[in-house]
Amino acid sequence: MSRTWTSNVHEAIARLVSMRTGFTYALQHPGKTEAGVLRAMQRRGLSAPAKYLDTLRADAAALDELMDELTIRETYFFREPRHFEFIRQEILPQLRSERGFEVPIRAWSAGCASGEEAYSLAMLLAQEGFGHQSQVLGTDISNQALETARSARFRAWSVRGADPKLTGSYLRQDDATWIVAEPIRRRVRFGFLNLALDAYPSHVTGTYGMDLVMCRNVLIYFDADTVEQVARRLCASLAPGGWLVTASSDPALSAAEGLEAHVTDYGVFYQRAIAQRAAPKPVPPRPLAIEPPTPRAPAPAPTLPSPTAPAREVATPSPLAAAKRALRAGDYARVLEVLPAFGADVDACLLRIDALANHDGSGAAAEAAARALRIHPAAVELHFRHALLLSSIGRLGEAEAALRRVIYLDRSLAIAHFTLAGMQWRQGRQGDARRSYQTAERLARAASPDAPLRLAPDQAAGALADAASRQLAALDGAGSISA
Ligand SMILES: C[S@@+](CC[C@H](N)C(=O)[O-])C[C@H]1O[C@@H](n2cnc3c(N)ncnc32)[C@H](O)[C@@H]1O
Repeated sequence: MSRTWTSNVHEAIARLVSMRTGFTYALQHPGKTEAGVLRAMQRRGLSAPAKYLDTLRADAAALDELMDELTIRETYFFREPRHFEFIRQEILPQLRSERGFEVPIRAWSAGCASGEEAYSLAMLLAQEGFGHQSQVLGTDISNQALETARSARFRAWSVRGADPKLTGSYLRQDDATWIVAEPIRRRVRFGFLNLALDAYPSHVTGTYGMDLVMCRNVLIYFDADTVEQVARRLCASLAPGGWLVTASSDPALSAAEGLEAHVTDYGVFYQRAIAQRAAPKPVPPRPLAIEPPTPRAPAPAPTLPSPTAPAREVATPSPLAAAKRALRAGDYARVLEVLPAFGADVDACLLRIDALANHDGSGAAAEAAARALRIHPAAVELHFRHALLLSSIGRLGEAEAALRRVIYLDRSLAIAHFTLAGMQWRQGRQGDARRSYQTAERLARAASPDAPLRLAPDQAAGALADAASRQLAALDGAGSISA
């Protein structure tokens, strides 16, 4: 395999892949990358690398195909069985003793490929008695792989080596196909998420407050900086005391902030610092661009007791407060029960939409946001949430239109310009993205660096300005080719 690029277009393709997916391996291994690019070009019937680069910039499906050639999406049920044994014997009993059976266990297979790992987790949780109290999320950057995952139908190859005691009644064989049983399937939800981007933790994608994250055989694709950033974000996605499991071949995460390493004979398991359990943050940390705004804290309603009211009524929490508490506890059904419909209060609408996103998926939540907007057509927060939800289900054109409405209502929102830039970039429109990042940076620099951002009050203006400036540098890096 060659150690240098045969043309600067090939190098630009590798740079594009690395920028968009964090797959820095592409830049470091010209020979293997060029061979993969060639195969992907053949699949598209293209022979000119420059034309192929244009296609990659404009078409997310083309990038997906290329990643299919460059990465190994190898996975199977109960891969590295000793990890699952550790979860069964150490992690679940600990979670059970701390939280009891009532609190749902939230697990995430980050980089799930075709879903076998996520389903294995759901099977294990069901075996251990958490069946009805568990939610498993599977995310990946490959839409193709996610399609297989959602179909819940697998070839025998996916089941190889899996102990039948583990898969038992959860997998039914139909000729050459293995089908995941409906009760397991119902516990697992899949979505697109690029781990290399600052898109989690997030309420919209449900990537927060996780008790257990498995991110195995994914970090190997990233360079040291990206590994560190991903580890920090995964740690922030964990509930205090939650666990992160990586593969034995993955790089060690000793430098990751807030993670305690538990070394065993068959791997290192990481736990979010126990010390943080004592004082859990009320709301999980939020990323800059993708994260929706924190619902504005309502002004505390005056609760002066009426002299005739019975004392216990004074202590009854408002539906909004009860819904907020339920959302933080991951009890989405309760949020929907407490807030059964959209009404006059925008904050309550936002809470209901967040609960729907986690309960019924981003698609249902996007439809709900559109309904809420019919009641509150000028609510900037709702338009912004609508945009993020549409973006998370790949409806980028509509997401962009929703963001433009945000900007039309208030041109001064730096976070809206920043988010718009990301969408434009994803659609291959570097020129537009550059202008939007420049606007975001200008608006954010005009504020005091510590000032909280509107629509993302957990973020400071200075941090957004720096992020915009980094994105601009990255854009220049990805776009500067003479093909
Ligand atoms: C080898 S599979 C691992 C599957 C499973 N975790 C396991 O260990 O069996 C690696 C997966 O990581 C995904 N991946 C690579 N880069 C990613 C990124 N930036 N964000 C999310 N997933 C990514 C690939 O698409 C692929 O499906």
